[in-house]
Amino acid sequence: MTSPDPSWWRSAVVYQIYPRSFADGNNDGTGDIPGMIERLDYLRDLGVDAVWVSPWYPSPMADGGYDVADYCDIDPRFGTLADADAFLAGAHERGMRVLIDLVPNHCSIAHPAFRAAVAAGPGSAERALFHFADGRGPAGELPPNNWGSLFGGPAWERVIGPDGPEQWYLHMFAPEQPDWNWANPDVVAVFDDVIRFWFDRGVDGLRVDVADGLAKDAAYPDTPVDPATGLGIASFYPGHPWWNQPELDAIQRHWRELADGYAEHGMGERIFVCEANTKPLEALMRFVDPGRMHTTFNFDMLWCEWEAGSLRAMIDRNLIAHAAIGAPTTWVLGNHDSTRVATRYGKPETGKPFTLGGTPEAWAYRFAEYFWPQPTDIELGRRRARAAALLELALPGTTYVYQGEELGLPEVEDLPDDVLDDPSFFRTGGRIRGRDGCRVPLPWSGTTAPYGNGRDASPWLPQPDVWADLSAAAQDGDPDSTLSLYRRALAIRSTHPALGDGTLAWSDDYPGHVLYFTREPGFGCLVNLSTEPVDLPTGSRVLVASGPLSDGKVPPDTSVWLDR
Ligand code: BGC
Repeated sequence: MTSPDPSWWRSAVVYQIYPRSFADGNNDGTGDIPGMIERLDYLRDLGVDAVWVSPWYPSPMADGGYDVADYCDIDPRFGTLADADAFLAGAHERGMRVLIDLVPNHCSIAHPAFRAAVAAGPGSAERALFHFADGRGPAGELPPNNWGSLFGGPAWERVIGPDGPEQWYLHMFAPEQPDWNWANPDVVAVFDDVIRFWFDRGVDGLRVDVADGLAKDAAYPDTPVDPATGLGIASFYPGHPWWNQPELDAIQRHWRELADGYAEHGMGERIFVCEANTKPLEALMRFVDPGRMHTTFNFDMLWCEWEAGSLRAMIDRNLIAHAAIGAPTTWVLGNHDSTRVATRYGKPETGKPFTLGGTPEAWAYRFAEYFWPQPTDIELGRRRARAAALLELALPGTTYVYQGEELGLPEVEDLPDDVLDDPSFFRTGGRIRGRDGCRVPLPWSGTTAPYGNGRDASPWLPQPDVWADLSAAAQDGDPDSTLSLYRRALAIRSTHPALGDGTLAWSDDYPGHVLYFTREPGFGCLVNLSTEPVDLPTGSRVLVASGPLSDGKVPPDTSVWLDR
């Protein structure tokens, strides 16, 4: 059973399941909820407090399920509502909470409300649920403004009605993902029902997709032109007309009241975590102001170089900003949108995950194909990723672990073009390869694909021939494996009184390229980012190390947790 602690979310370790790629229970090449249920014991034994499930809703899968056709059902590829209920019950029985993805910025063109809007025509109440607008030019043949989509190409798509081309609709992402109009109270009501539907079923929290993009400047002003695309800049900058608009405050406060109602009626906590790339940090902190959302992802660790000074500054910046308003920090090394951490840390530049959104600078480098051609030293990357795992799990706050991080999986960088599925690949004429490389189905057991992820069906993305040693079964009995490291660290974290929520104190006893901090009572974490082995702090005892010590010293790119 889950713990009665109402503040569980302030210190939880949350495991992200990307259902398509996690575990294939019915052997059709795609992961599903029965597969997830089979792996609940694995998750319990790993020692996570909660799981976050990426979208499992009916969807044409134009964006891996982030194009939702029905928010209150399950895609038949993944199972049924009864399967979802069984997964929830099974997780709860094993003491784990469940968060699911809420996708409120956009739905799918297959959603009945969007179909009705297209059919109802200009000026209708149905169209007012979305952003429909007349085009520019004598025949409305140009989009209403210059906005570019985050997946490439314009952010407007023209409706072709029975009488020919007519209005345009807005889509921040793919054309198959029309944006809801959050200025319309009917949209608020639609999502109140969705939120209640899942909270009533016992879901403990919602990860809010694109939480900083819901409200748009109704005047639809042009944005500055991105030289890489010739279209208006789509990614975040302060003042952008679709990111972090003031109306978000009311939307989030309303949701918070809705969630708090559950606790007030003795039905347990319901929480929100925002996916938001808003900058600067002070602006992002408004999302977790009292009365707004519980937590927001902090993606700074995902963007931070593997370098002591940058890491320490990034950690301090976040701890100070969050402490100032009493919200817990979250730590993220990877997710289904970014280069797997073991590969990222094996690149010459370690602070550049391939990701959608982000800064204009990031956008430009992606178009320049700047990141992908960099060689990877995977052994180095994996060593650093293990060290980073101990670092993030020792920090105050909540930690998110993306499926496969606990196995040290690398990014699959050589997927053939004909299997790629990410809309950004198609929308950019292949200039962006997209996010499929971090979504390859997990290896569970066996020596050849599909490595126990299904029996013998070909997985929806091919797995490399060399993944046998990385499977969960292969790592299970090996005390030196990444899986064993995660299990050990999570077991310590779950009982150590110094870990989870709280504070840390830096020690300056070491040279600049070594991070050493303590937490009370009696805990220390040392991360050696220098090129030389360093001594353990006097009088300390190692609880767990991310790699073998050499002559009692901590080698480069290695972390240790200490009893002191
Ligand atoms: C999700 C992506 C998705 C996008 C549009 C994101 O932030 O994490 O996977 O493509 O939202 O829904």
